[in-house]
Formats: sequence, C-alpha cells, structure tokens
Amino acid sequence: MSTTARLLPGVPVAEEILAQVAEGVAQLRAAGVTPTLATVLVGDDEASAGYIRIKQRRAAELGFASPHVRLAASVSQADVHAVLADFNSDPGVHGVLVQHPIPGGLDYDRALQTLAPDLDVDGMHPVNMGRLALGLPGPLPCTPAAIEALLAYHGVPVAGREVVILGRGATLGRPLAMLLAQKRSTANAAVTVVHTGVADWPRYTRRAEILVAAAGVPGIVRPEHVRPGAVVVGGGARYAGRRLLPDVDESCARVAGAITPRVGGVGPVTVAMLFRNALRAARSAAGQVLRQGGGAEALPR
Ligand SMILES: NC(=O)c1ccc[n+]([C@@H]2O[C@H](COP(=O)([O-])OP(=O)(O)OC[C@H]3O[C@@H](n4cnc5c(N)ncnc54)[C@H](OP(=O)(O)O)[C@@H]3O)[C@@H](O)[C@H]2O)c1
Repeated sequence: MSTTARLLPGVPVAEEILAQVAEGVAQLRAAGVTPTLATVLVGDDEASAGYIRIKQRRAAELGFASPHVRLAASVSQADVHAVLADFNSDPGVHGVLVQHPIPGGLDYDRALQTLAPDLDVDGMHPVNMGRLALGLPGPLPCTPAAIEALLAYHGVPVAGREVVILGRGATLGRPLAMLLAQKRSTANAAVTVVHTGVADWPRYTRRAEILVAAAGVPGIVRPEHVRPGAVVVGGGARYAGRRLLPDVDESCARVAGAITPRVGGVGPVTVAMLFRNALRAARSAAGQVLRQGGGAEALPR
C-alpha cells in the first residue's frame, strides 16, 4: 500500500518531553529534593508486570526514586487502600501510579478515589477530572494531554478547527473533548464527540478536519469515514496477545493528509506525560516545603 499521508510520529515528541523532565528532575535534586514516583502492582499479570518494569526503568533513567509495592492477587480492597493511604501520608512521595487493570475482584476506580488527588500521575482521579472540566491546574489525563502535545509538536493547527472524537470513554474521548475545547492556543477547537448513540457517526467524522479515534474497536475507522486531507489521530487500540490492533485502519493513510503511525504514535507520548505529571507534582510539593523553610527561590519554575 502506498502511503500518501504525512506521518505524525510520537517518539520525537516523547523524547523532547522526557528531556525536559530529566532537566527538571536534576534541578530539583540540586535543590535537595528527590522526586519520587511510587508504583503499585496488584496480581501476577505478566503484561502489567512488564509495563511497570518499563516505567520503573524509565523513572530511574530520569532520576526519580521509585519505591515499588507488589501485592498478591488475593489481597482485599482494604489492603490496596492501606497501601495508598501510606503513600498519601508520606511527604517524600510525590506521585503514585497504580498499574491498570487490577485483578477482577478489586475495584480500580474505588481505589483511585482513596489516593490524594495531587499524587495521581494518571490524572484520572475524579477531583482531577473536575479540575480539567473547570480549567483549574492539576495533573492532566495522560493520553488526552499526549494528543494535544503531539499535534502541537507537529505544527498541526487545532484552534478554530473542527475536531471529531469517536468515543466518549473516561480515559480518552471525554477528557480529550474537554481539553481541546479549552481556551488555549494549542486547543480552542470546535469539538464534537460521537459514540454508539450516534448511529450515523460517519456523517460527523467525514467533516472533521482532525479526527481522533478513541473507541477501542480495531479497524473501526476506514477511509470512507475520513475527510480527504484530514489529520487522523489513532488513540484507541486493543491488544490480541502482544499484537496491537488499532482503531484506525492503515488504508486511511491514502485519504488523510497526516496520520499517526500504527506503532509509535500516541503511546510513547502518553508515557512521557506520566513523568511530566510526576515532575510537576514533585515541584509543587517541594515548593510548599521549601517555601515553609524559606528556600523556594532555589526551585525551578
Ligand atoms: N494510546 C494510548 O496510550 C492509550 C491510553 C489509554 C487508552 N487508550 C485506548 O483508548 C481507547 C478508549 O479508551 P476509553 O477507556 O476512553 O474508552 P471506553 O470506555 O472503552 O469507551 C469506548 C468509546 O467508544 C465508543 N464506541 C465503541 N464502539 C463503537 C462503535 N461501534 N461505534 C461508535 N462508537 C463506539 C463507545 O461508545 P458508548 O459510550 O456509546 O459505549 C465509548 O464511548 C481504548 O482502546 C484504550 O485502549 C489508549
């Protein structure tokens, strides 16, 4: 298949963000603060254990301390809450990442609600969703923030343009709609969200200048759903074993003007956003401590 669309890779975007994070971490360390991102893994799922290992390796490379708690799949909901309560009350911990999903009998959302919102590096805590809705500062949900950053990095104008998002899930479609409608130069779009309640959703996607697939249904976006020359962002995907099955069919590259690659698109930027949230949490917590001690001028902005 011949590709005509310009590719919008995520790897250089992630590298740029991670370089800024590494610099920020080094500045905090020089001011006597060790940025600390704790990780929690519940159960024995190999894929989840692998994801946590990758994030811990990256945390170490960036200069974060990263205490890790691994809980057996047999633990109770209260056990998970107790671990998070310990982190909540530890002033040396700036961010906490609970690897998703957690085993079937446990409720991830309920656990997340017991975490202090400022420690939530995924930006998914209800308080942080509320901050996003109100335009207040706080950790942003990683995948939506990644998509905004990816478009900005590649010089894709968003302000004033018609963005259509296929999917209204809590991780991606819904927070992305809020983010891209905000009054900011890299957002400020006319945003439409379509879902299973809109039977004729292609009517909307075909007029989109920027189309974001956020459904988690492999191959759901096909060339006939894309306006010629549009920018297509693949956010949704599903895994079959280790194989990634994206929402956007590769043949869309024949119609789109620009498109994220099948692999190495939004994913790497999402991970970078996690560390950006962790750095911001560490800066903010350290700022409070140093201000109390009169040393805030040593902190980077
Ligand atoms: N790239 C990354 O780093 C990254 C990170 C996080 C998540 N994701 C991916 O993002 C995707 C979305 O996640 P999520 O948790 O936000 O979503 P979700 O809760 O799974 O919701 C999916 C959304 O897609 C809509 N949808 C599903 N099938 C559809 C169809 N046939 N026609 C029209 N709409 C349809 C659903 O509509 P209804 O609301 O009507 O059911 C729903 O709004 C997932 O694939 C996830 O893996 C990617």
